[in-house]
Amino acid sequence: MIEVKNLEFSYKSQKSFIEDLSFNVSQGEIFGFLGPSGAGKSTLQKILCGILREYQGSVKVLGSEVKDRGKEFYEEIGVDFEFPNLYGKFSGIDNLKYFASLYDRPLLDPMPLLERVGLGEYGNKKVSEYSKGMKMRLAFVRSILHEPKLLFLDEPTSGLDPSYARILKEMILEQKKMGRTVILTTHNMHDADELCDRVAFIVDGEIKAVGEPALLKSSKEAVEVRYSYVQSEEIKQGKASLAELYNDKRFMKELQEGKLRSIHSKEPTLEDVFMEVTGRRLI
Ligand SMILES: Nc1ncnc2c1ncn2[C@@H]1O[C@H](COP(=O)(O)OP(=O)(O)OP(=O)(O)O)[C@@H](O)[C@H]1O
Ligand SMILES: [Mg+2]
Repeated sequence: MIEVKNLEFSYKSQKSFIEDLSFNVSQGEIFGFLGPSGAGKSTLQKILCGILREYQGSVKVLGSEVKDRGKEFYEEIGVDFEFPNLYGKFSGIDNLKYFASLYDRPLLDPMPLLERVGLGEYGNKKVSEYSKGMKMRLAFVRSILHEPKLLFLDEPTSGLDPSYARILKEMILEQKKMGRTVILTTHNMHDADELCDRVAFIVDGEIKAVGEPALLKSSKEAVEVRYSYVQSEEIKQGKASLAELYNDKRFMKELQEGKLRSIHSKEPTLEDVFMEVTGRRLI
């Protein structure tokens, strides 16, 4: 689906921002770009969807070089930008109708989708009167309306309330079930963990690691166990690594004497691994 080799890119008159970047994405994958603000996630997405064409190296999307693609490319891809470009003077429905007029292929009926994302009643309202979250939900619906094979989503859930974020995440997973490929840009480790088959850690225009979230997490140092126990009528705390717990004399003694009060394990999060690999936090 996507083959990037030795990509280099810089914004005008600045030094190279992306240098020698390579990665592949297969059909049917949800592939995440995870990184802090300014890492280059949106820049990469704009290169992949043919908006920034002044790059060096090779960026093949759906079989051919992106900078040579014409209008037919946009029939096959769906794009949800970080800052949705909608027409404020048009209603939500009219925005979608205008968008539909740009396509040769028939589009899905927008109403069930608008209802699903909580915009059913607001279709005829002017977009300038929409909240930020409403605009984001409308832009998401717009990106899937022409049933693209390849979907680019830039922070699709950022700033949405949890119930709508959940609905959008379900809809993204449905896209995958239909065999579509999704590129998801995010600085939210929970979204990356839940949705992505593979994630790329991005910092300063570089990919520092790529892998399945579960594998990345299992490569991190041992799971830590914290326990509490009663001693002289006081609650005391202890900790040990899971692998070494059987060797922890205190833990074994309190266990045998029935004095343990609680045990918690802290598994590494994707952000823990991100910090270990890149030395940076996500936010
Ligand atoms: N049009 C532009 N002209 C010049 N520099 C730019 C432009 N757009 C982005 N940059 C710079 O490129 C770098 C990467 O920006 P980008 O928007 O790709 O980051 P990001 O990872 O998407 O961040 P965020 O999480 O805040 O959206 C930043 O240093 C930014 O200032
Ligand atoms: Mg961005």
